Amino acid sequence: MMNSVMITDEEFGLFQRLIRKLAGINLADSKKVLLVGRLQRRLREHGLDDFGSYYRLLASGRHPQELQIMVDLLTTNETYFFRESRHFDYLRDDILAARRLGGTFRIWSAASSSGEEAYSMAMVLAETLANSPWEVFASDISTRVLVKARSGHYANDRNDGIPPILRHRYCLPGTDDGSFQIAPRIRDKVRFQQVNLTRPIDPRIGVFDVIFLRNVMIYFDTDTKRQVIANVLPRLLPGGHFIVGHSESLTGLTDQLAAVRPTIYRRV
Ligand SMILES: C[S@@+](CC[C@H](N)C(=O)[O-])C[C@H]1O[C@@H](n2cnc3c(N)ncnc32)[C@H](O)[C@@H]1O
Repeated sequence: MMNSVMITDEEFGLFQRLIRKLAGINLADSKKVLLVGRLQRRLREHGLDDFGSYYRLLASGRHPQELQIMVDLLTTNETYFFRESRHFDYLRDDILAARRLGGTFRIWSAASSSGEEAYSMAMVLAETLANSPWEVFASDISTRVLVKARSGHYANDRNDGIPPILRHRYCLPGTDDGSFQIAPRIRDKVRFQQVNLTRPIDPRIGVFDVIFLRNVMIYFDTDTKRQVIANVLPRLLPGGHFIVGHSESLTGLTDQLAAVRPTIYRRV
């Protein structure tokens, strides 16, 4: 068991400001223990004794890859297949059932974490749009989770949420007994790319019929939420759907989205 490195309030404040500047994440004062637990191995890796020295290393600009590692460690990446499954029912029974024909149907999983949300969407699209083109774009700020997402390789205990019929059709046995892999015909339709939602978004990602932006805005303060919505909305087609997590709401953040039902909005 490692001895925990202490962090002063002042040092913690430096990290709060840094992660807010880099990712928009609002790290509450109560998250001190969490920060120490997640970052102290990095101090050891660099032979440093205190958080102030680690901060100076990050701020020196000489270790850009270390900044990414810090972002990877301070983001919370919890996710699972068919999380908040009513959104996937709505996608199938309302959005896809009513869609106009023609063109490629495009969805964006805008804080995809390790890919479970994007592959859940892809399975629904494969089932529902067998004869028309579709694609899923998925992004996250953390490069670590994107590597995992692209592999499409998960432990068997992660597949609980996948309906058995979809598991049978779209999941293959993995390279060992304890894992499975998303079938290539699904993986080939899902593209993962790093996107920081707090920065201007490259228009080359195109426009989307539906955007899922779930369980990430809880980490942002109101100004950052507004900025993120303003960055993301130009990527949503007029009439397109915008879906947030069950504990999130866009009330008061934009007048460009109309509520269809709690957590589900449409671009006006
Ligand atoms: C809790 S996960 C949500 C995953 C999935 N959307 C879901 O609902 O299950 C939140 C994700 O948001 C990502 N994230 C945090 N700040 C971000 C930012 N500024 N830009 C893009 N992604 C960010 C984190 O890396 C993390 O993977």
